[in-house]
Amino acid sequence: MEEVSSKYKVLFVCLGNICRSPAAQGIFEHIVRENGMTDRIIADSAGLYGGHAGQHPDRRMRTAALYRGYGLKHSARQVRSYDFRDFDLIIAMDDQNYEDLMHIAPSVEDSRKIRRMASYFTTHKISYVPDPYYMGAEGFSLVLDLLEEGCQNLFDTIKAEL
Ligand code: 4NP
Repeated sequence: MEEVSSKYKVLFVCLGNICRSPAAQGIFEHIVRENGMTDRIIADSAGLYGGHAGQHPDRRMRTAALYRGYGLKHSARQVRSYDFRDFDLIIAMDDQNYEDLMHIAPSVEDSRKIRRMASYFTTHKISYVPDPYYMGAEGFSLVLDLLEEGCQNLFDTIKAEL
């Protein structure tokens, strides 16, 4: 049986873990599946705020994602210190997420696992993934545009290093 520990593990993190990070997880898992790499790479997502723990992704995000072919299935959870031990890479959606993760990283070595999602953007000229929670449908669509590009480039980067 394949050992989970032998896989490369990516954790996507936003504030609530009901909009951006579960969408990033769903898109990234889709790319991993399409490339036949499910035995090598796995993903999860979590939020810095634990108030939505146990909830499914926001209905508006599920609808927008499904329209593009991504069925989002996730149960929200809060980031925990074990995540810095268990994951190889931790991807923050915005600057506040990045700062908060840096703050709770148990060690300097752990903090080196944290990256901004925007660092994987190539065509989009924006330095973060905006929180769509208080936006209309166009906000969710923009987030998916950003995440599709970021997740593809992230996947390519990881694949090249495996
Ligand atoms: P997310 O969006 O961080 O992309 O999951 C949010 C969802 C809920 C809240 C904030 C952001 N909230 O404060 O309830």
